[in-house]
Amino acid sequence: MTNLIDGRAIAEQIHSETAQRVTALKSRGVQPSLMFVRVGDDPASKVYVGMKEKTAARLGILSETRVLPDSTTESELLALIHKLNADSAVHGILVQAPLPRHISETNIYSTVLPQKDVDGFHPENVGKLMLGDKTGFLPCTPAGVHELLIRSGTKMDGAEVVVLGRGNIVGKPMAAILIQKDKNANATVTVCHSKTRDISAHCRRADILIAALGSPEFVKADMIKPGAVVIDVGVNRISDPAAKGGSRLVGDVDFTAVQKVAGKITPNPGGVGPMTIAMLMQNTVRAAELLAKS
Ligand code: GUN
Repeated sequence: MTNLIDGRAIAEQIHSETAQRVTALKSRGVQPSLMFVRVGDDPASKVYVGMKEKTAARLGILSETRVLPDSTTESELLALIHKLNADSAVHGILVQAPLPRHISETNIYSTVLPQKDVDGFHPENVGKLMLGDKTGFLPCTPAGVHELLIRSGTKMDGAEVVVLGRGNIVGKPMAAILIQKDKNANATVTVCHSKTRDISAHCRRADILIAALGSPEFVKADMIKPGAVVIDVGVNRISDPAAKGGSRLVGDVDFTAVQKVAGKITPNPGGVGPMTIAMLMQNTVRAAELLAKS
């Protein structure tokens, strides 16, 4: 029997729920819409936004991408965001990271209207997550990991969870989601990072290990408690002369070895990635529903 957590299949379940909500909105005359903003030429960002656009179209969500040159100033980007904030036909705004170094991501993400912040990066939404206030938007990747855990029947109540990585996009919000006094949470969470002493010792205690540190195949089999649930959030490009184009993508987990010890594990690709997109679509439809109600 396989011990894989099939992110593609779970994302498809969520897509079919989202598509039904899109149909319901359209029957009330509301066309859910999502605006992407991409600055510069980052090849990975092009691929990610392209995938999100395709999924939006498949679910009946209108989407458009504004592509701005690398030379765009912060005030030009802020002006575009103000315009999109004011456009009542736009329900969600996603400014793809990374941004050029001369633009402050903090300034950009705190300018997107919280009600259109389908990325969950606005300080108001970050604050609501910490407070357990469910009226905000959750960031898509940690929300997707949480949904994978729920839909794979993983017990979180009282579980020892170890999160590797303390970034604002995954590690910190992931910990915040799982420590809430709530159904499908109530976990004891340890967040490990570059200054943690003896990461392996922490990992070996984990019932659920979530790797989001951005280090290729960092998690080895001897760091896993037998039977633990392992979630690999990493996307790392490593050079490989034998691969097409001289490089290939690997996760933060040494999958082949860890799969033998883990109780359940996400494949990579095909684990967390599709869930991030599923949660983005779900957030967008919710933004449209909330606006239609107000
Ligand atoms: N870059 C990598 N992950 C993300 C994400 O979740 N949202 C945005 N906007 N950019 C990203």
